[in-house]
Amino acid sequence: MRVGVIGTGHVGLVTCVALAEIGHDVVGVDRDQERILKLQDGRAPFFEPGLEPLLEKGLNQRLLAFSVEPESAVADREVVFICVGTPPRTDGQANLVAIESAAREVARAASGELIVAEKSTVPAGTADRIHRTIALEHRSSRNGIEVVSNPEFLREGTAIEDALRPSRILVGANSPRGHEVMRRLYAAAIDAGSPLVETDIRTAELAKHASNAFLALKISYVNALARVCERTGADVDSIADVMGFDPRIGRAFLDAGLGYGGFCFPKDLQAFERLADSVNYDFPLLREIRRLNDQAVEAVFDNVEDGLWNLEGKRVALLGLSFKPGTDDVRLSPSLALARRLIDAGATVAAFDPEAMMAAKEELPELELASDVFGATNDAHCVVLCTSWPQFRNIDLDLLKEVMAYPMVVDGRNMYDPAEMGARGFTYYPTGKPPIR
Ligand code: UDX
Repeated sequence: MRVGVIGTGHVGLVTCVALAEIGHDVVGVDRDQERILKLQDGRAPFFEPGLEPLLEKGLNQRLLAFSVEPESAVADREVVFICVGTPPRTDGQANLVAIESAAREVARAASGELIVAEKSTVPAGTADRIHRTIALEHRSSRNGIEVVSNPEFLREGTAIEDALRPSRILVGANSPRGHEVMRRLYAAAIDAGSPLVETDIRTAELAKHASNAFLALKISYVNALARVCERTGADVDSIADVMGFDPRIGRAFLDAGLGYGGFCFPKDLQAFERLADSVNYDFPLLREIRRLNDQAVEAVFDNVEDGLWNLEGKRVALLGLSFKPGTDDVRLSPSLALARRLIDAGATVAAFDPEAMMAAKEELPELELASDVFGATNDAHCVVLCTSWPQFRNIDLDLLKEVMAYPMVVDGRNMYDPAEMGARGFTYYPTGKPPIR
């Protein structure tokens, strides 16, 4: 099928390469000329495992093309995806200016029948707005253009896998034609076993917010549980294992630590709160999820302070700056929130991350960056494990102890065994378990 994608950010670009990989003819457009030039050259503008090889493959097979001209993603296409950003406004509501302008571009360039699929995470009711914008722009009802909602559930770091073998494909449409076209588009994944859920548009729009908020709820729940464990001497990981064996609960997203970050959960949760406000439903649980997430960073900060006493003049090494492993994304990363907190309290903060150092330095120029684990931990009074990159699981602990000023580890992702850390002579603060002093 001939497909267009407006916006080549994380979601848009992964959508482009995944659709080309299953054999569709895809054109991605973006206003950012520099980005388009890079993409035409086969270079990904951000780190995502497996993205670049598929990008090159699509370009070589001529199934993938990029342009700055919106028309090329719309005219003669059967489906056009809107994948532009919806950053939060200062009041927490999603900023939908880019969505409106994409809708206008679609209206101007559309020539015949077209399905407009909104993939960006948007508040319920946005598809109606897109439809009305298209109609107004044309001063007609544009019968041949239909808007559907097709939210993405991509996780950064495994986005390609998630796009090629989705856990579910969700399509919200208000007519059989919308569903039929999207079924054809995703036929390969559906045949391979990905469940397809077909709903009306409002339901699909709301389902994305509902899923993300529930995942964030699981994380905040286990982090609150961690606080209780710290005060009672229980072990949060073992409790999560016990809970996880119950199939009604499941073990996933019950890892206590510094909390969630990234651009999706914090932004979507706030947008969901604003949506609930706008329909006059008081939903304090959503606010509480956020409060507990902020508290998770504070709890790790308290452990650093407990171990070091005064922070002025102390050197703290942070291992991991991205909001989770497998990405260079530091947007709303809890590691950076902790770094800011430590710097404000007078500590010097050195850091190492396998991918996210450039991005982190831009956000927080006061950070001292090192080129490896031991560069960051050299002379440090305390090391904080912030992101669970696999390479941080097998650090040479004898060498670590040797290079540090004090042998103290605060584990914000529970990556080490407290008994072993104690036996090796570290002061060790796990999350949600008794510390070894
Ligand atoms: C998320 C959703 O998973 C995805 O479906 C949606 O489309 C976009 O938002 P992503 O932001 O890439 O994806 O990250 P995810 O893997 O879900 O992790 C989110 C955050 O939660 C990370 O900061 C991670 O470290 C944290 N987390 C996750 C925990 O603190 N504990 C856990 O048990 C799991």
